[in-house]
Amino acid sequence: MTDRDEPPGGRDDIGRDSREIVGRDDVDQSGDDSGRTLPSGSTGCDGSEDALEDSSTGQQSPDSVIEDGERPPVLDDESSVLEDDERSSMLDDGGSASALGDEPSSGLFDDLLSGEPIFENKEVLRPSYTPRKLPHREEQINNIATILVSALRGDTPSNILIYGKTGTGKTASAKFVSEELEATSKKYAVPCDVQYINCEVTDTQYRVLAQLANTFIEDNERAIEREIGELSSLLERAETDESVLSETPYGSLERLEARVEELENALESFEEVPMTGWPTDRVYSSFFEAVDYRERVVVIMLDEIDKLVEKSGDDTLYNLSRMNSDLERSRVSIMGISNDLKFTEFLDPRVKSSLGEEEIVFPPYDANQLRDILTHRAEIAFEEGALTEDVIPLCAAFAAQEHGDARRALDLLRTAGELAERDSTDHVEEGHVRQAQEKIELDRVVEVVRTLPQQSKLVLFATILLEKQGVHNINTGEVYNIYKRLCNEIDADVLTQRRVTDLISELDMLGIVNAVVVSKGRYGRTKEISLSVPVDETEGVLVSDSRLGDIEDAQPFVQARFDN
Ligand SMILES: Nc1ncnc2c1ncn2[C@@H]1O[C@H](COP(=O)(O)OP(=O)(O)O)[C@@H](O)[C@H]1O
Ligand SMILES: [Mg+2]
Repeated sequence: MTDRDEPPGGRDDIGRDSREIVGRDDVDQSGDDSGRTLPSGSTGCDGSEDALEDSSTGQQSPDSVIEDGERPPVLDDESSVLEDDERSSMLDDGGSASALGDEPSSGLFDDLLSGEPIFENKEVLRPSYTPRKLPHREEQINNIATILVSALRGDTPSNILIYGKTGTGKTASAKFVSEELEATSKKYAVPCDVQYINCEVTDTQYRVLAQLANTFIEDNERAIEREIGELSSLLERAETDESVLSETPYGSLERLEARVEELENALESFEEVPMTGWPTDRVYSSFFEAVDYRERVVVIMLDEIDKLVEKSGDDTLYNLSRMNSDLERSRVSIMGISNDLKFTEFLDPRVKSSLGEEEIVFPPYDANQLRDILTHRAEIAFEEGALTEDVIPLCAAFAAQEHGDARRALDLLRTAGELAERDSTDHVEEGHVRQAQEKIELDRVVEVVRTLPQQSKLVLFATILLEKQGVHNINTGEVYNIYKRLCNEIDADVLTQRRVTDLISELDMLGIVNAVVVSKGRYGRTKEISLSVPVDETEGVLVSDSRLGDIEDAQPFVQARFDN
């Protein structure tokens, strides 16, 4: 029988589907921040590009290679093939090098290894590291703890919604509180569980529920197996001397045996939820039954909850927030964390009021607070004396401008350290921080420009061409004329001037161009546009787009403007 003979949606389709989702879900289960660093395209390609870039500049950057290569444990077929190619070509090089001479190495790494290392523990500066001390978040952490302490008393804590811009310490604080809560619940033997889910990775209702169901199923299985183990040894003793049972809830051998059988049946009844394929309500009941199997309070932390709602609506939150009225033994409380202050506008009013019982805001850090945060981390991350005096204040000042983002501050500090390392110096200076700021900013621009829609790219390209021609006070009409010519050149649709004006405003909001409205007296108003990003690098990113790259020698279009 050929594949064609299969009924539609037969074995082959299912096979393909499940393979895909299983692959993605391996990412899920890593469950923490590391998932966030996944490159969006083929992981294998990105990794190799980065490695190439670093070796061509002759700079040592094992860490940046590793960082970008942080991959899910299981790669899809394509990227593992690429990886193998990479690996074998590396082996080939090594082989031919040693065939030329008998030297075991040419000292490529020796030079780089020598010299005082700057970092003592660079990992501490990475986003995946959860610090145990979080200066300037005491108030927020206390507020969360005051709400969650009910869980340790066996009551249901109010649901909490946490807001704040990126890098304001929401995830770090939530993880800190959850670790404390779990530790305390163990100490006092109160049944309380915290489940952390990063909704940027686990972004559909099915996946959220499946992940929760499977975690609780495993947890139940472990508890049951433990109890069966204990009861089996009791059973052994009771078989020789039944009187040992008098001090247990099981008065007789029969009752003890019945209990063991009951547990064994329960163990069998749990079925792991597959990563795809079940109807959602079946996944939901699996989760429901697994949680309610025994008495406990469960706090579900949904980090990046706005991403979940954006992608899959508010069904998950609706279902989770209504659970308590049906649960018999357990209680569920939700803690949502959002970067987007306005995301509740999209919620069903019932979900909104239930989820927002308590709201906690994480304000941006100011430069002084960022300084404290960096100082704490730097003590562990750097060798003593590696940082000159101005480094931390400057990193703090730059990041304070960037809406008080602690992640940016740490990135700056780490990148500055890496740049100093490449300079083969033993201390980090102000100049390294400025270079780091440029590098990070450029990386950001490249990423934003690379992912712009084609029409925006064309508008930006037109602006760049004008700017390169030395045109000052570029106005919308001028951009529009060049834009039209570019569109014709690559057979793209030509938008109206009004739409192009909107696209310019978007580019302005992204920080790529600066557009100011100027009044031309009785001739009305126009926008004066200038680039806010480096011309050559940005143009480089644009022409690396396959379609824009087809535009050959665009300069004459601009010339034509002056000839008219
Ligand atoms: N108060 C703080 N003290 C120490 N490190 C912090 C503090 N706030 C944030 N960080 C660090 O800054 C980075 C970003 O914080 P994170 O909690 O991920 O921000 P958010 O979740 O709000 O985007 C992380 O590396 C985190 O450890
Ligand atoms: Mg976060």
